[in-house]
Amino acid sequence: MTKEDSALIRGLEGVVAAETRLCDLDGKNGRLAYVGYDIDELARKATFEEVTYLLLYGELPKAAQLDAFTVALTAAREIPRELTQAFRLMPKATDPMRVLQAAVATLGMSDPDTTDNSHAANVRKAIRLTSQIATAICAHHRVRSGQEPVAPAAGLGHAANFLYMLTGQRPGGAAVKAFDASLTLYAEHELNASTFTTRTIVSTQSDMHSAVAGGVGALKGPLHGGAGEAVMRTLMEIGEVASVDAFTEKALAAKRRLMGFGHRVYKAGDPRAAILRGMAEQACRESGQFQWYQIAVKLHERIGGAKGLIPNVDFYSAPLFYSLAIPVDLFTPVIAAGRIAGWSANIIEQHDDNRLIRPRAEYVGPGRRAFVDITKR
Ligand code: SDX
Repeated sequence: MTKEDSALIRGLEGVVAAETRLCDLDGKNGRLAYVGYDIDELARKATFEEVTYLLLYGELPKAAQLDAFTVALTAAREIPRELTQAFRLMPKATDPMRVLQAAVATLGMSDPDTTDNSHAANVRKAIRLTSQIATAICAHHRVRSGQEPVAPAAGLGHAANFLYMLTGQRPGGAAVKAFDASLTLYAEHELNASTFTTRTIVSTQSDMHSAVAGGVGALKGPLHGGAGEAVMRTLMEIGEVASVDAFTEKALAAKRRLMGFGHRVYKAGDPRAAILRGMAEQACRESGQFQWYQIAVKLHERIGGAKGLIPNVDFYSAPLFYSLAIPVDLFTPVIAAGRIAGWSANIIEQHDDNRLIRPRAEYVGPGRRAFVDITKR
């Protein structure tokens, strides 16, 4: 295939750049499945541990396999003391996604398999990063808040342990279920910008930690994972249901890009948003924060009606995360804590059947011209 055979497609919209066994994304009909299992069933019936196992091994685990996998995840939760020390040296106001990117790169400095790109080593690294990213997000938050990190609790599952390390309190069942399902809903999503970034990085035969650090950098942007935080700030800017109409009018007049709406692939609806909407309604009601859900629903109706834009995964996860007392600037790190499962699985796929990812560009600059010495410019 040469450059002459293909035309410029901005943003690679609709371009098929890989084969995958991980994610079946039907944008036209708004359907999503991981390795053949519908996202709605996985969110309702499987734990994040089961879904991570599914993405790494291609099958849902049997009981004994899940037990062994859970033991491995639990054993991998500790982060190096040096990393916690590094958190203490970082400026308190640093964006937690910038901290997370540095944390992943730092974990790569001491991981025993860092430079081993074999399938087995990559699976071991995926397990460690899945657990360590959760611990790092929570440890940094505690340090920046002037508190000591909370050590991981061996007896808690992944989602419960995350909430425990974040707050120091053992979470209730409803919060754990909602958070666990959120991690599953964010776990994998085909060739989104951050996953494509990780694939591009490992296609040079670079390693998983380098790729995940790159994926964190891509996810940080407000057009991608950063949208969740932006949605919550929009809901807070509106403040009450009665102000939605005036806000919408002003935003439409100003042609403001409202984060949480629209999607490159889903045009009929993001199936994850529908699931998260139900979870957000229950969590906001139970936590006495129902106004955020009500504002979101009314804004969804107004923007949907005016621009035909669909709410994406980040729209209803925002009031849900807020009702779970997750700090707003940790919404995107939480998305990374789910997406590490998909990033790892895509990295393994790419390493196992690799070809360097190197597209072309259409040159539109000046024509060929003679060099001019500086004395004559
Ligand atoms: C995620 O790819 C994935 O799978 C991502 C993700 C995953 O799980 O990994 O699903 C997670 O990133 C979800 C998306 C989160 N981002 C946002 O919520 C940011 C707001 N959304 C948009 O910026 C936009 O919808 C994108 C970036 C998501 C998709 O953009 P496209 O496909 O490039 O579409 P576009 O920007 O060309 O917009 C098409 C039209 C434009 O109108 P015109 O200028 O042609 O008249 O729709 C309008 C846009 O102005 N539009 C919006 C809008 N999104 C699109 N107008 C106002 N607000 C918006 N949010």
